Amino acid sequence: METKEIAIVREEVRKLLGSDKSGHDASHVERVEALALKFNEEEKQDAAVVSLIALLHDADDYKLFGKESAENLSNTHRIMNLAGIPEKTQETVIEAISTIGYSKRLKGITPALPEAKIVSDADMCDALGALGIIRSFQYASSKGNPLFDRNLRPVTKLSAEVYQAKTQDTVVNHCFEKLLKLRGMMLTEAGKKEAEVRHDFIVFFLRELFEEENAPEWADYLNQYLKGL
Ligand code: ADP
Ligand code: NI
Repeated sequence: METKEIAIVREEVRKLLGSDKSGHDASHVERVEALALKFNEEEKQDAAVVSLIALLHDADDYKLFGKESAENLSNTHRIMNLAGIPEKTQETVIEAISTIGYSKRLKGITPALPEAKIVSDADMCDALGALGIIRSFQYASSKGNPLFDRNLRPVTKLSAEVYQAKTQDTVVNHCFEKLLKLRGMMLTEAGKKEAEVRHDFIVFFLRELFEEENAPEWADYLNQYLKGL
């Protein structure tokens, strides 16, 4: 495929997500593309398809565009048509995107296409590490949620419905409810290696935070939680 078509998609996604303040901005999408292409050096799948899936994976996110857009993938269709992406490739991208995301994984939907596995791993890695912490902060402040509330315990048995309906949340609880589970959800060897490092960073961050907040009961909770992973 022409890089020109991918460049049009990139530009359209930039216009669509450019101003988002909830952790889905165009920079997230472009980092996911870069990381997915890096994984692909090892995984050796179709790089153009990897790019397209990565660029479009949040273009119809339910948090940003609502349920209808998430169901119909209307922005994804519109942008691919505008860029003149061939029909067959469009079908692959649509199939991939409808299997990517943490909420979908909680519902038992897992990417099957190799390119979708690569992008899923890259997307989840961008929710880990230093950038993962920054994005969680961004998300929490956009909702007016606090960083930490020692009296608000994480939800342990999380269904997709409960996860999506949560309004009262903290960055710390989000670490327990999502971020620390991501390492175990990697689908490629390249993703597993990257997630390991970024996971350890979240653990390091939480340990230090509970120390500074003088919250030994939370440090114990973290240790118990990690044993169960
Ligand atoms: P992604 O695009 O990585 O699949 P999401 O759509 O779940 O991520 O959310 C965007 C960003 O906001 C991610 O970094 C995610 O971890 C973070 N985030 C989502 N929900 C919360 C929450 N309740 N509290 C703090 N951060 C959150
Ligand atoms: Ni994403």
